[in-house]
Amino acid sequence: MTNSAYTPDSQRYDNGMKYRRCGRSGILLPAISLGFWHNFGDVDSFENAERMVHYAFDRGVCHFDLANNYGPSSGSAEKTLGRIMRQSLRPFRDELFISTKAGYDMWPGPYGSWCSRKNLMASLDQSLQRMNLEYVDLFYSHRYDPMTPLEETLQALVDIVRQGKALYVGISRWPKEAAQVAYDYLAAHDVPCLIYQGRYNIIDREPEEAGIIDQAQANGAGFIVFSPLAQGLLAGRYLNGIPSDSRIAHGGHLKAEALTEQRLQQIRALNQIAERRGQTLAEMSLAWILSDKRVTSVIIGSSSVEQLQQNLMALQSPPFTPEDLQAIERVYKG
Ligand SMILES: NC(=O)c1ccc[n+]([C@@H]2O[C@H](COP(=O)([O-])OP(=O)(O)OC[C@H]3O[C@@H](n4cnc5c(N)ncnc54)[C@H](OP(=O)(O)O)[C@@H]3O)[C@@H](O)[C@H]2O)c1
Repeated sequence: MTNSAYTPDSQRYDNGMKYRRCGRSGILLPAISLGFWHNFGDVDSFENAERMVHYAFDRGVCHFDLANNYGPSSGSAEKTLGRIMRQSLRPFRDELFISTKAGYDMWPGPYGSWCSRKNLMASLDQSLQRMNLEYVDLFYSHRYDPMTPLEETLQALVDIVRQGKALYVGISRWPKEAAQVAYDYLAAHDVPCLIYQGRYNIIDREPEEAGIIDQAQANGAGFIVFSPLAQGLLAGRYLNGIPSDSRIAHGGHLKAEALTEQRLQQIRALNQIAERRGQTLAEMSLAWILSDKRVTSVIIGSSSVEQLQQNLMALQSPPFTPEDLQAIERVYKG
C-alpha cells in the first residue's frame, strides 16, 4: 500500500547536499546520513519518524543507517523503516542506500549475538523481513567478536554478498589489528570492505588517535562517523539542564553521568567558538568533522525535523580559520 500523500521534492539532489566517494568504490554517500538508533522505535511516534525520513530524503539524505537491535524494542526501528518503505518509499528504492548490522544481543540463546556465521546469516534474514527489503545495500559486522575466528565472520560477509542479500559489507568498531585482517581477507575474496563505521567527534577522537581513519583510507575503505554530536552533547542540548524530551531524560544510551562539570565547561567553550563563527554548536561540530576529507559521511541522529533542518545547515558552514581550529584544539586538550 503506497501513501500517495507523499511526493518527494523534485529538487532533492539540487538543494545543497554534497556527495562523497566512499573509499575506492563506485559508491557516493551523502555527507550527512540519517541514523535510526534512537527515536524510530515502537515507543516513538511513527508519524514523527516518517516526517523525519521524508524530510531527509527531500534534502538529498539518501543513506539510512540501521541495525537489527535499534528501537526500542529491538528490531522495531527496522520495522518502522519497513512500514515507510511499504507506504511511500518503495518506488524510490534504487535512490536509497540502506545499511543494517548484526553483532549485538538480539534473540535469546547462544546464536542471537556476536558474529558467528549462524548469527549474521539469520539476523540479516530477519532484518530483511522487518524492513520489507529483498537486499540491503550495506551489511556490517556491528562489533569485533573476540571468540569467533575472524575468518568465519569474514567468510559469512563474503557469502552474504554472493547470495545477493547485501551489495557491500563493512565493519564497525573493530580494533585496528582485526580491521587489517578484515581488509586483507575481504579484498582477497573479491568483496572489498566498503567502509569502517566509528565514533568520532570534536571531544572523542579515538579512531583518529588509534590510526583507524588512516588505515581505512590506506585500504581503500571509506570512514563513516557515528555519534558526531556526542549524542546531543555537541548540539548544545544540555547547556541549560536536561530537557524532558531529551535522550538522557528518555533513558537512552546517554546517561546523566556524562554531564560532568568539566564536560559542560568544555561544551560551553565550544559553543562560544561556534557563536563567534555565527553558527550553532551542532553546525560547527558537524562541519568540523566534514572538514576532514578522509571522512565519507556523518550519521546524525535526530528527534525532530527542526533538528535535521538545523544540522543540514552544516553543509553551508564557513571554512575554519587557523585561529578557530587552534581554539577548538585548546578546548579539546583542556
Ligand atoms: N556502529 C555503532 O556501534 C553505532 C553506535 C551508535 C550509533 N550508531 C549510528 O549513528 C547514528 C547517530 O548516532 P547518534 O544518534 O548518537 O548521533 P548524534 O548526532 O551524535 O546525536 C543525535 C542526538 O543529538 C540530539 N540533537 C541532534 N541534533 C540536534 C540539534 N540540532 N539540536 C539539539 N539537539 C540535537 C538529539 O537528541 P534528542 O534525542 O535528545 O533530541 C539526537 O537524537 C545512529 O542512529 C546509528 O545509526 C552506530
